[in-house]
Amino acid sequence: MSHAQETARRRTFAIISHPDAGKTTITEKLLLFGGAIQMAGAVRARRAGRHAASDFIEIEKQRGISVSTAVMSFEHQGCAVNLLDTPGHEDFSEDTYRVLTAVDSALMVLDSAKGVEARTLALMEVCRMRDTPVMTYCNKFDRESMDPFELMDSIEKQLGIQTAPMTWPIGMGKDFQGVYDLVNRAVVFYQDAQKGRKNDVVALAPEDPALDEWIGPEAAAKLRSELELLEGASPPFDPESYRRGKQTPVFFGSAINNFGVKELLDCFVRFAPAPQPRATATRYVEPDEPTFTGFVFKIQANLDPSHRDRMAFVRIVSGEYNRGMKLRHVRSGRDMAINNATTFLARDRTVTEQAFPGDIIGLHNHGAIRIGDTFTEGEDLKFTGIPSFAPELFRRARLLDPLKSKSLVKGLEQLAEEGAAQLYRPIDGQDYLLGALGSLQFDVIQSRLQNEYNVRAIFEQVPYQAARWLFSDDQEALDKFIATNRDRVYRDLADNPTFIANTEWAMNYAASQNPKIRFLKTMEIQ
Ligand code: G4P
Repeated sequence: MSHAQETARRRTFAIISHPDAGKTTITEKLLLFGGAIQMAGAVRARRAGRHAASDFIEIEKQRGISVSTAVMSFEHQGCAVNLLDTPGHEDFSEDTYRVLTAVDSALMVLDSAKGVEARTLALMEVCRMRDTPVMTYCNKFDRESMDPFELMDSIEKQLGIQTAPMTWPIGMGKDFQGVYDLVNRAVVFYQDAQKGRKNDVVALAPEDPALDEWIGPEAAAKLRSELELLEGASPPFDPESYRRGKQTPVFFGSAINNFGVKELLDCFVRFAPAPQPRATATRYVEPDEPTFTGFVFKIQANLDPSHRDRMAFVRIVSGEYNRGMKLRHVRSGRDMAINNATTFLARDRTVTEQAFPGDIIGLHNHGAIRIGDTFTEGEDLKFTGIPSFAPELFRRARLLDPLKSKSLVKGLEQLAEEGAAQLYRPIDGQDYLLGALGSLQFDVIQSRLQNEYNVRAIFEQVPYQAARWLFSDDQEALDKFIATNRDRVYRDLADNPTFIANTEWAMNYAASQNPKIRFLKTMEIQ
């Protein structure tokens, strides 16, 4: 197959949802369809959304699971699908945002009884910022759900995206009979105890009198009137507006019963975008360019903690990867021969021989690679758009064993490089600060310090609430601000000066008094 064909058949996406909506369940069904797993239950262990902190750390300890499910690849109808996992727990939302920079589209899964929930809303905002195309799956129709029109309405109003139903539910809960496939004009049966008709597809136009026999006259009348209403209320699916992130095709089903998932997957491989161009600081990179480019969106500790080996996940943007090729790590300017890049199949990891745009390869690394780094075959490029967020929670790490201070710094630096938290070095003194968006991040770091670095530390509360990166075109003004606020200015891992304040109010005041300095809450990783 040519490079262009290989690229065109790639579909790289992530699932966004609120915990408990059914992400794990649908992931499993997708993998089953793709033949990547043979047995339901394989992905279950990964479900982290509803776990308490202690459970989550336990899961983190079993790092084998999280590394190998970070990317799940499978084939469907000739397409090579890469599903990128996102952490379930909202305390790790920063990780999720970064994963969303590495996909070309997303699948939103809703619990149909609950509609749009808080975390879905936050994640959809990120998708909208980037105009990421989104497909929607309304799950759990085997239970009492919101009225489907209400559901559409809440998606449109709360998420600001037009809906285009692709299927339409016939009943719900106990009376759930299946869906009407609007594209193929057919009833897809959920189940029929007597006839065992699950997933049977019967082509029937809505006006066909036989519909009454198949689903009962009452359900048929209701469906007819709903479809009529729909025709007036909803524009038809428009692949162009979907690809521009303006319209979301909507499917109904019950993931746990493996219902409605196939229709979704068929439509997904047909319409979801192939690998897209990506912006760099200097130009756009098109996927069909012949030379390799890619960026790191995630770093994760490797399977074996004793090795301190970490894996950098690189999204390929252009060209192709072939085993043994030399890649330039642009930030350091070093060329590296890559012999052992890893690709991911649902549960197994294999050495990559070849990979194409849209694919994710894992590079082993001992600390030289950071999130946001670019790899090329020599060109001096820097991919942009990988965000870092100013933390809102702060702790000071205090050692329980004072002789371990070197290990503590090393551990904290490495964990911060993985993106587990922000690490701040004071301009004067030794008091490292940690910053995070969710408190679970501190728990995970504390437990990993102990397990992987043999360092026992506690994290003390500190009276800080806000951090901002400081930038200015006026170096003199910046230097002066830093000099007069030495006790409040820290350096982050990349050496960027960061102002840390006791309160949001104090932060805003400082910003208003120093108009020549930009106080940044979000930043592209340098
Ligand atoms: P998540 O990853 O988004 O957090 O959700 P997950 O798939 O784990 O699903 C959350 C709960 O919802 C699970 O139930 C799961 O079985 C259930 N569920 C998923 N899809 C459907 C569906 O289509 N219909 C119904 N009725 N339930 C569904 P649980 O009882 O919390 O866990 P478990 O005991 O099943 O493991």
